[in-house]
Amino acid sequence: MKLGIEAISLYTPNKYLSLEKLAQARGVDPKKFITGIGQEKMAVPAPDEDVVTMGANAAYQAIQQVDDSSIDTVIFATESGIDQSKAASIYVHSLLGLSSSCRSFEVKQACCSSTAALYMAMSMVALKPEKRVLIIASDVARYGLETAGEPTQGGGAIAMVVSATPTIVSFDTEFGSYTEDVMDFWRPNYRDEAVVDGKYSIKIYLKALEESWKNYLKESNASFGEFDYFCYHLPFTRMAEKAHFHLGRIAESDLSREELAVQMEDSLHYNRIIGNCYTASLYIGLLSLLDTADKDLSGKRIGMFSYGSGAMASFFSATVCEGYKKALQPEQNQKMLAAREEISVEEYQKIYAHQLPVDGSEYKTAQHETGRYRLAGISDHKRIYEAVKATVPAEELVHA
Ligand code: CAA
Repeated sequence: MKLGIEAISLYTPNKYLSLEKLAQARGVDPKKFITGIGQEKMAVPAPDEDVVTMGANAAYQAIQQVDDSSIDTVIFATESGIDQSKAASIYVHSLLGLSSSCRSFEVKQACCSSTAALYMAMSMVALKPEKRVLIIASDVARYGLETAGEPTQGGGAIAMVVSATPTIVSFDTEFGSYTEDVMDFWRPNYRDEAVVDGKYSIKIYLKALEESWKNYLKESNASFGEFDYFCYHLPFTRMAEKAHFHLGRIAESDLSREELAVQMEDSLHYNRIIGNCYTASLYIGLLSLLDTADKDLSGKRIGMFSYGSGAMASFFSATVCEGYKKALQPEQNQKMLAAREEISVEEYQKIYAHQLPVDGSEYKTAQHETGRYRLAGISDHKRIYEAVKATVPAEELVHA
């Protein structure tokens, strides 16, 4: 039985900040952000957006492509959740009008929980092959203003329908994982911003890659040369370059740096102009590769590396389905990215400073361009979501 992705959709906020302008405002050489870190723009979620609205916007598009009555589980992966108890997936389940017999829950392990959700979803579908599982990975990456992490912020969501009739990629059952108790990046409950030991987090990421790869080889008997492309967790695009050259070295690949770069450069385009989306980043990288590669990738094998600080990581593999292009909407994704509104550093800082009330008082959020769903406000400690007029008509979302 093949298990994999039958539909995949991206949503990212309509506002972005140019990292060149951020560098100028911070008195930093723009080349540091653009070349050294590898980021050009970062998405800035509006005050009436959060992981639920972004996730619902992505999921709405994904479920247009399948029979949604067969979705029996919704799994929400996030590390910028909006409630300690209630799962974000229940809000999305309601906004999308899914069946009440469909299970709905949230999972956590930093950026890696989307991959845990993927393997959980495949196990569920293996038990009931006629069913589908909707995975939503949605995050807002937020660090302190004027910190080293500031240029690696971003936000967005990916929704994937996992089934036994994949049309985009199928996944192999073998994976190699690695867990170590470290404090490289975390977010205590009382903080809105992550705490990060940046340089250490890069070291741990590379160590976790090496250990996951070794464990993957024990499971699979595969070799580096069997892979055509690689997708990495993308906190920023230079991280993937560092990772891939590192893996090439430890796997003793005889490919040149240029040949290695070709294996992952198409996976970086979207992240470079969206920024980190934590749980969604690896899968935005996968979508970027599939949407932007000018070759037909049918049958190609992709090595995938998922990293979650704290830390847990997995190396696993995917094979691109024949005719996968028919199940994608690259023009729509590129149209959404091109239509975004650039905001100034002042506007970004104003949005950054915006806080929702924490005392249960009534609050209505100002309306911004948020796609189909928005956070209307707060009432009696409850988040109130609403559907708004669609900016993209449904018929344009469904690929013929
Ligand atoms: N021109 C060109 N390049 C320049 C430059 C210039 N003028 N100035 C500096 N650079 C280069 C540096 O040489 C460096 O490149 P190398 O790594 O190849 O040496 C790069 O720009 C970055 O410079 P610094 O290392 O000095 O940058 P920094 O210390 O200010 O911050 C960072 C970089 C640590 C990544 C920081 O942005 C950060 O903490 N980010 C958040 C944490 C993070 O993303 N960690 C990644 C692993 S953890 C993870 O993956 C989970 C997750 O999602 C968070």
